[in-house]
Amino acid sequence: MTVLGIETSCDETAAAILENGSVRSSIVSTHWLHAKYGGVVPELASRAHLRLLPPILDQLMEEAQTPLEKLDAVAVTQGPGLIGALLVGISTAKAIAFARSLPLIGVNHLEGHIWSAGFEQPQELQQPFLALLVSGGHTLLVGVEDFSQYRLIGQTRDDAAGEAFDKVAVLCGLGYPGGAEVEKHASLGNPSYREFPVGMTGQKGYDFSFSGLKTAVAYFLRRHPEALAEHQNDVLACFQEAAVASLIEPTCRAFDDFGYGALVLSGGVAANARLRERLGEEIGKRGGSFLSPDPHLCTDNATMIAWVGWRRLLAGERHGFDLCGEPNLPLQTITEPGTC
Ligand code: KG4
Ligand code: ZN
Repeated sequence: MTVLGIETSCDETAAAILENGSVRSSIVSTHWLHAKYGGVVPELASRAHLRLLPPILDQLMEEAQTPLEKLDAVAVTQGPGLIGALLVGISTAKAIAFARSLPLIGVNHLEGHIWSAGFEQPQELQQPFLALLVSGGHTLLVGVEDFSQYRLIGQTRDDAAGEAFDKVAVLCGLGYPGGAEVEKHASLGNPSYREFPVGMTGQKGYDFSFSGLKTAVAYFLRRHPEALAEHQNDVLACFQEAAVASLIEPTCRAFDDFGYGALVLSGGVAANARLRERLGEEIGKRGGSFLSPDPHLCTDNATMIAWVGWRRLLAGERHGFDLCGEPNLPLQTITEPGTC
């Protein structure tokens, strides 16, 4: 089955073609135009998707040597995301599916991230597993019992992990989105320069928190403006260590308590080498296996949407042309936090 996947939930316009779960071609175009605003401007994102998606689809079909006539189905991100941005992808997917009489399937973006290690390492990825999803909009710890069966174990109480990286990047004048830039600078800095608070230290449970850390960095830079010029890499190295520790502590506690054999790390922040290294070490010490997709599949892409769409289509699912964008589409969970 040859599936076209389309992803337009935020500030990446992406499309991919998969044949029986293997990638034939994948294109991701990031909208750097938001950088000067320090965050995504929804209306500009919608317009950029409108402009970029048609030529991306042409290029994709040429690269994959798969014209419209050879497609068997269309998968598209249904949510969560910016409504205007989602609608560009959904309308395009509907038009293609209608014109070619193809099945259409809407995919939850979060589910796409959770399974993004699945198409790269299908043999290693055995359910059940614990998934840590860390992106610009979400920080979730989820027990994956099976395809479509998720147990919500922990989540952020305030900012998402990626949001903390992005806000600290803006404080340091590194632009937006700044996670990758923060990592570059942090790798050159001294992580012992000073200590920043680790979220949820000493607390029970498996939730995360990043707003105290972000505020501590903001106050430090306000009190020591000279540090930005003289110690920027050191400040960022210390921020990164605290952000990584804020993710590791609840995750490892859940790994110990719930008895999963594997941890899958995904979402844009999973591209961070220090987080991958530290979490890999901790899970290794516990005798578990650690999996994370290649960094280019951690950030938003359409391969993960096409892959989950393919799995759902194989299970007999499909949507009608009344498919709507859902800005707050939740991950369907089998148990709410606190009850598991
Ligand atoms: O998954 P993603 O592409 O989009 C969302 O679904 O939100 O994640 C984007 C987030 C941004 O906050 C970005 O700064 C962060 O992932 N990010 C990183 C790195 N690369 C991207 N954060 C830390 N280190 C990185 N190397
Ligand atoms: Zn994402």
